[in-house]
Amino acid sequence: MAKTSLIFVVCLFLSFLCVCASEGTTQVSCAVGTKCLLPCVFSVGSNAAVHWRKSPGETEVHSFYNNQDQLQNQHQDYRDRTFVFQSQIHRGNASLQLSEVKVQDEGSYMCITSITSESDVSTVDLKIAEPTQVSCAVGTKCLLPCVFSVGSNAAVHWRKSPGEARVHSFYNNQDQLQNQHQDYRDRTFVFQSQIHRGNASLQLSEVKVQDAGTYVCATSSSTYSSVSSVNLTIVGPGLETRRSQVQVRRHVTVRSRSGDTSQSGPGLETRHSQVQV
Ligand SMILES: *[C@@H]1O[C@H](CO)[C@@H](O)[C@H](O)[C@H]1NC(C)=O
Ligand SMILES: *[C@@H]1O[C@H](CO)[C@@H](O)[C@H](O)[C@H]1NC(C)=O
Ligand SMILES: *[C@@H]1O[C@H](CO)[C@@H](O)[C@H](O)[C@H]1NC(C)=O
Repeated sequence: MAKTSLIFVVCLFLSFLCVCASEGTTQVSCAVGTKCLLPCVFSVGSNAAVHWRKSPGETEVHSFYNNQDQLQNQHQDYRDRTFVFQSQIHRGNASLQLSEVKVQDEGSYMCITSITSESDVSTVDLKIAEPTQVSCAVGTKCLLPCVFSVGSNAAVHWRKSPGEARVHSFYNNQDQLQNQHQDYRDRTFVFQSQIHRGNASLQLSEVKVQDAGTYVCATSSSTYSSVSSVNLTIVGPGLETRRSQVQVRRHVTVRSRSGDTSQSGPGLETRHSQVQV
């Protein structure tokens, strides 16, 4: 009897596994140095056990059972950097928060959940992105790039780190500036028509020296979540790069004001002292 039915059962089992694996894979992209959420949802039940493992090698990232974290066998690479939201677990949310993300964290993570007799595996493919370097001059408009994989109902959050000051948020198809940090009031802009094309770039106006730093762009849609970062350098007084840019402008200004190609004159002096201030 058994041979054909056994083969049948094995095939069924294999195809089941494949369907599960492809349905359960989430793509997440995070920026170096940030906090990263690896999503995992499962059917709610009592006494849930959650195991996060990194493949290959099944490195132990985080375990939770008997209502508590079980970190005895946690791999040292993950020490003090993992967190599951205990209050969320009984709601079927076993998402893992990974802090101070490093390039080496990139890879495939399995979330294995079990309740009484059922168990479930889902996979998160984590990509780690290096910051994009952007340099802008004081007083100009500056574009901080952010691209993401488009999905329905996109949400975009721009924050400045460290401190996580809220720079700009966009969700439910509109800007959400209720909690915007006052430093950014009336200076930020996202291109609404570009968001559904996966372009969440931020335009920052009247750039100041204090704007320098790392900006994190967190985007999410129904199927994909991504965090990228921009390292903004401000070129200002005292920096060589800026001096040469200013010089170029000064020539242009003098010409258009006086209609004269000479490089000296009253216009030049005024301009020069304004720049120094
Ligand atoms: C799981 O919990 C975390 C932390 O509260 C939250 O950010 C995330 O959105 C939750 N995920 C789901 C699917 O509810
Ligand atoms: C995003 O949109 C802005 C404004 O239209 C544009 O300047 C920028 O080039 C776009 N970026 C990408 C990657 O398409
Ligand atoms: C940002 O750029 C500055 C200047 O290039 C550099 O000193 C700093 O380390 C960079 N920060 C990050 C997080 O890449």
